[in-house]
Amino acid sequence: MQGGVRPADSVVAAAEPQVGALVVVDNFLPHELAAAMRADIDAHFATPFKHRPDTHQVWNYWFVPQTYTYLRTQPEKIIQRASLDRFMGLLHSWSSETLGLARLSWPYLSLYVSGCRQGLHNDARNGRFGFVYSLTRNERRSTGGETIVMRRGDPFLRNLRKASAGAALYELVEPRFNRLVVFDDRMVHGVQLVEGSMDPMEGRFVLHGHLEESGPVVAGSLTLEQVLQSLRSALELFDREFAAQAREYDGPLVLQFKISAEGRVSGLRVILDRVFAEREGNAGWSEIKGKLVELVAAIAFPACAGETRVTLPLQFGGPARS
Ligand SMILES: [Fe+2]
Repeated sequence: MQGGVRPADSVVAAAEPQVGALVVVDNFLPHELAAAMRADIDAHFATPFKHRPDTHQVWNYWFVPQTYTYLRTQPEKIIQRASLDRFMGLLHSWSSETLGLARLSWPYLSLYVSGCRQGLHNDARNGRFGFVYSLTRNERRSTGGETIVMRRGDPFLRNLRKASAGAALYELVEPRFNRLVVFDDRMVHGVQLVEGSMDPMEGRFVLHGHLEESGPVVAGSLTLEQVLQSLRSALELFDREFAAQAREYDGPLVLQFKISAEGRVSGLRVILDRVFAEREGNAGWSEIKGKLVELVAAIAFPACAGETRVTLPLQFGGPARS
């Protein structure tokens, strides 16, 4: 490595990112906010004989043969905008803190009654992570509607010599009320067939969309431009040395660190590592990641009045984001 690499203790914390392929957060919103959003849904479907075209002909029956069968709409047509803005604000904070992904798509509100489902697919080009937030009643006269997320790896090769079924092949996450489910968009996923009552009140309601990285998030004494300038040379050096190897990998890597008033990096940690090679196995990745972490840890930033906190999302391979 180059000279001037920071001692190992500044990069030790980088070993273990916090996030796997699937994250489930129960009681995600303050209960009163979740309840208010559900109350708007209940009010929308109440008094059916009073429904008017301008307020109620708002559902898109989205049917794609073999893939999607459900109803969807823009949520602000059903749920108060102020509640949605609060939801998105809290999701933005959570996603920025937990995943380092600070850009959110505006969600759909979807309704699954009996016969609705999503076939298996991935959203490799839609975002980095998908989010599904449930406003489904916990007690309902329907079954199904679980989010199904296939486990990683080749299910054929992994199970050549053992019988496998159900949870050994995939994870099923029930649409519990006020539950947030977030998963790597490249994981094969779908929604289990809903069966039972045709009453929408008994169906699966979810707000769903995608999360992806914004530019670096910088808070404190240094400006974004100052941080970028110093980062640029480290990232160019990384590119020169490892571009060919790094091309084999795909996915987001997010680093978080502090810069002291003297311009030194401390507390560097990987908060998200969802980088994989197309071929099975990830043997070379930890070495490449280690080099990148070392380079960033060794940057001499400009000295300034106080501390600066940086979240740095990096994307390997895949479609570029504007
Ligand atoms: Fe999807």
